[in-house]
Amino acid sequence: MSKDRLIIFDTTLRDGEQSPGATMDQDEKLRIARALERMKVDVIEAGFAIASQGDFESVKAIADTVRDSTICSLARAKAGDIDRAGEALQNANSGRIHTFIATSPIHMQHKLRLEPDQVIEHAVAAVKHARGLIDDVEFSCEDAGRSELDFLCRIIEQVIDAGARTINIPDTVGYAIPGQFGDTIRQLLARIPNSDKAVFSVHCHNDLGLAVANSLEAVLNGARQVECTINGLGERAGNASLEEIVMSVRTRADLFPVETRINATEIVPASRLVSSITGFPVQPNKAIVGANAFAHESGIHQDGVLKHRETYEIMRAEDVGWNTNRMVLGKHSGRAAFRARLDELGISFASDAELNEAFQRFKDLADKKHEVFDEDLHALVSDTKQAAEQERFKLVLLEAASKTGETPEARLIVSVDGDEQETVAGGAGPVDATFKAIEQIAHSGATLQLYSVNAITAGTDSQGEVTVRLEKGGRIVNGHGADIDIITASAKAYLNALNHFAAGLERAHPQAADV
Ligand code: KIV
Ligand code: ZN
Repeated sequence: MSKDRLIIFDTTLRDGEQSPGATMDQDEKLRIARALERMKVDVIEAGFAIASQGDFESVKAIADTVRDSTICSLARAKAGDIDRAGEALQNANSGRIHTFIATSPIHMQHKLRLEPDQVIEHAVAAVKHARGLIDDVEFSCEDAGRSELDFLCRIIEQVIDAGARTINIPDTVGYAIPGQFGDTIRQLLARIPNSDKAVFSVHCHNDLGLAVANSLEAVLNGARQVECTINGLGERAGNASLEEIVMSVRTRADLFPVETRINATEIVPASRLVSSITGFPVQPNKAIVGANAFAHESGIHQDGVLKHRETYEIMRAEDVGWNTNRMVLGKHSGRAAFRARLDELGISFASDAELNEAFQRFKDLADKKHEVFDEDLHALVSDTKQAAEQERFKLVLLEAASKTGETPEARLIVSVDGDEQETVAGGAGPVDATFKAIEQIAHSGATLQLYSVNAITAGTDSQGEVTVRLEKGGRIVNGHGADIDIITASAKAYLNALNHFAAGLERAHPQAADV
């Protein structure tokens, strides 16, 4: 039986980035986009171009670089948003504008303060405007999960006539239940006279833990695009997780009349990259990408798996990219090998000086840690790029001491706008002392919301990767730092968060205000 293609639309860089604290910079977004391209994701929603200058530049950089996936920008149903999206996508090999407006009674009445007919007018005008700029236009009925079916039929028929090629049905607040949501998709396809002129898509949030189940039910009822994110990142409880959608369709090929073009062996590396960049750890029992997803604890299971793998395993760990973080480089590796691996990972530097600096850091690392993995390279690159930026706070020196029975102490020199300042502080532990010392210099007044340390690779010689989340006046920022010494990694992460505060970028949220 020939199967339909299920289009995988990844929105890690847009909806995923809307999770509080998951903000990414341009370089981080580019690295994730390259990982998604390697995975053969069909459509990458790279951002919301009008949100800020930084968002615009990130969407543009991704559209300029990625060749093998369609690059999409979100735009409210407003000419200004759509023009900005079109501008960012100008050099895309294949670009898409995704415009949306809310269609549920509660959103139309309280958020938009528009009558249903006015909403249709805005939607049609937006789609026509977008089609004037680009052929590939997607239209979303925000809060479709709580919209009236008759109204959805009316608006969708008209936006398809206006030129929308993809119709997305978001369950924006994660309210749907699988059987009911599948039925909605089936009815829309059956009742809308021109439904065959567009691909129907779904975008499910996970507030009831049903995002993947709802998306799969929609596929069984005719949806041919699923919007999802790596690790299920996204607003509130997140979006449907890409890895679960892809592996469900593949593992239960007996049930699903669709196939994807995803290279599943890139799933685990992409999951690790997203986790490391956002600082959102993956829970150990998370399907597909959790550390325990393929681990067998009970004796009975282990015995079964050793005798015949399929007794307890429905997928093979290696098929989703476990054990593919090949040991790529060591201390004898030269500059050419280092550069070649960075190229394969889609990492580039603004200048030769930066590349040389990264190579030097690699040599220092390889001296301390004999096997250098892809994860180490990503951390090292983040560090080099941070150091090259014109940042307000830079770590110059850190000495942290702790001894049983004595108060730990940190002596620190930080450069603040080029002026070196020194201080000493005590604390409950060496990390606490280091953060107190930084605050004595920075006086940020921010509160620490999250401190997490992850070993980047296995073994006690692994680099520690630290995430620090700070909050001040309702604004949340993340900072990251990696080092073999976790106290140094912690100091780097804290300073990185302070630098994000100092950058002070304001951006619009796509769903906060509307037309
Ligand atoms: O959840 C949602 O409705 C969205 C739309 C903007 C597609 O993210
Ligand atoms: Zn969403």
